Amino acid sequence: MSLIMVGVEKGGVGKSTLTQNLAAIRASLDRRVAIYDLDNQATTSKWVARRRDLPALPQVYVERMEEGRHTQEEFALQLQRLIDSYDDVFVDVGGKDTEIFRAALAAADIIVAPLIPSPADLDTVPDLAEVIGKFSKKIDIRVVLNQADPRKRMTKAMISEMAAFKATLPLMSKMIANRESYKFATAQGRGVAELEGSFWDGNAANEMKDLYLGVFGK
Ligand SMILES: Nc1ncnc2c1ncn2[C@@H]1O[C@H](COP(=O)(O)OP(=O)(O)OP(=O)(O)O)[C@@H](O)[C@H]1O
Ligand SMILES: [Mg+2]
Repeated sequence: MSLIMVGVEKGGVGKSTLTQNLAAIRASLDRRVAIYDLDNQATTSKWVARRRDLPALPQVYVERMEEGRHTQEEFALQLQRLIDSYDDVFVDVGGKDTEIFRAALAAADIIVAPLIPSPADLDTVPDLAEVIGKFSKKIDIRVVLNQADPRKRMTKAMISEMAAFKATLPLMSKMIANRESYKFATAQGRGVAELEGSFWDGNAANEMKDLYLGVFGK
């Protein structure tokens, strides 16, 4: 069993996109996969609903929890139920520093933290490093640059700024480019590697394979 948390506090960085893609790859390996959707926009719940219309694809289960509608105990209980019943549980983080966020953070086996090369995203890094640094256990976290172009100055600046945090927030060496295919995949209920025909994008599929290997190792 693995509990994989995708995302930290920053909004709009690709948490839902990466949750969907990593979950699709895990499911394709015959693992029973659940997603705990804490995103108020329910992006990933909608993705799972569209995926149900594609029965040839390995299905994933989604549990949606809306902030403010459940107690802290209910959140924790639901998460535990998923952990007990599935091989992998992905938490698509809502983007707020709530108690459930902290509890899931403490329980997570792996945290994938996407960031976009931008000053606003970089500004969130010291706080995140502090939160992570306070946990007594070693947290297995990887920061991945999303919508990033290695030739851009902002990307290079982000990489050099992140070096100061490498003990707590190691940056993955491979980054993810801005590609329309990620949007099409979300729209179709697929992972990018499952896009077909004119939608097929080998570069995106390879990128997700690299991300997958960087996160799970095999
Ligand atoms: N690599 C990418 N290339 C192109 N578009 C992307 C990429 N990653 C994410 N997007 C798009 O950026 C937007 C935000 O992505 P996403 O919904 O995954 O972020 P999020 O962190 O879950 O946001 P929120 O904080 O609102 O939950 C979406 O429209 C998504 O399709
Ligand atoms: Mg989201």
